[in-house]
Amino acid sequence: MADPVQPATAGRQVRRVGIAGLGRYVPEKVLTNQDLEKLVDTSDEWIVQRTGIRERRIAADDQFTSTLAIEAAKQALDDAGMKGEELELVLCATVTGDQPFPSTACRLGLELGAKNAGGFDIAGACSGFVFASQVAINMVASGAYSKVLVVGAEVLSRILDYQDRNTCVLFGDGAGAAIYTPLEVAKRGEFIGGSISMEGGAEDILAQPGGGSRFPASPESIEKRLHFMKMGGTKVFRFAVRVFAGLVRKVVEQYGADEIGVIIPHQVNQRIIESAMEQVDLPMDLVFSNIDRYGNTSAASVPIALREAYDAGRMEKGKLVLMPAFGAGMAWGHLLLRW
Ligand SMILES: CC(C)(COP(=O)(O)OP(=O)(O)OC[C@H]1O[C@@H](n2cnc3c(N)ncnc32)[C@H](O)[C@@H]1OP(=O)(O)O)[C@@H](O)C(=O)NCCC(=O)NCCS
Repeated sequence: MADPVQPATAGRQVRRVGIAGLGRYVPEKVLTNQDLEKLVDTSDEWIVQRTGIRERRIAADDQFTSTLAIEAAKQALDDAGMKGEELELVLCATVTGDQPFPSTACRLGLELGAKNAGGFDIAGACSGFVFASQVAINMVASGAYSKVLVVGAEVLSRILDYQDRNTCVLFGDGAGAAIYTPLEVAKRGEFIGGSISMEGGAEDILAQPGGGSRFPASPESIEKRLHFMKMGGTKVFRFAVRVFAGLVRKVVEQYGADEIGVIIPHQVNQRIIESAMEQVDLPMDLVFSNIDRYGNTSAASVPIALREAYDAGRMEKGKLVLMPAFGAGMAWGHLLLRW
């Protein structure tokens, strides 16, 4: 297992890399806790107390993961003052791509007019955007590419079991995007560190078991509802608090708490965020959270929050922006920028 806070590019970075553009998109349809009360045996009070979630967004029938990704990417291109054809690489972090293959990135590239780009998907679940960003950043740092789009996008509502109160209340749909370029072009958000870690063998803790080579689609897999997400909530809760607190602690040890301007964690659950912040003895006002409005949107959660934190004026010039993410795998990692 990799050291959880070893910068992925330590000692090897040849170009400084920053963020040239940010974007986010969430579907219009709102599913409230009250709506869920009509579907499963739950209550607004239970959901708010245990998770901090009040509502989440749900893709319309004619929207797919690529549809959401395109909107977020367009906003990021706009923010960067860039045209789709300028992109050199398009990465899509998702576990709910339009289809198992081809990659959603290929559809995304086509719709954006990214005719000079290559692209592929990265399946890192809730850590997907943080992982894909490090691939992109290292591509730019090495000099191989100069304009790389990373989108985290999910339509989780299509793999949620709205008969299972353990999972269906927690998740929502959305997309967020970032464009990475050399720092002299981007002029903000310099990448200074990151990590990608995993411990395997957790298929029974958080997974969509059906549809792959292990449990291919069959009448039996459908009958057992294996194509829906399954989760052992308590185990995930403990794992998330442990790795989230560990990532923050290492960054504090390395840079000092005063250097941190804002923490934008994977928007997993308000109680997980509060427990981790309590463990590292840092105030909650350092954290940007939008979990009450969107729930957990997996790979989309960090980039949606990143753009919203930016719009809310939460980035402080010269201070650190820390993005810890964690989820299925189990896998986790972080991105560390200096704004
Ligand atoms: C799911 C989670 C909110 C449950 O909270 P919790 O504090 O562990 O719940 P408790 O142990 O107090 O209660 C569990 C009970 O609540 C019930 N419950 C689960 N979901 C419920 C819901 N939506 N409404 C009402 N009751 C619910 C369970 O069936 C269980 O009942 P039982 O004791 O009769 O079996 C919490 O474990 C969690 O957030 N885990 C992490 C999940 C996550 O974020 N996953 C994605 C990571 S990327």
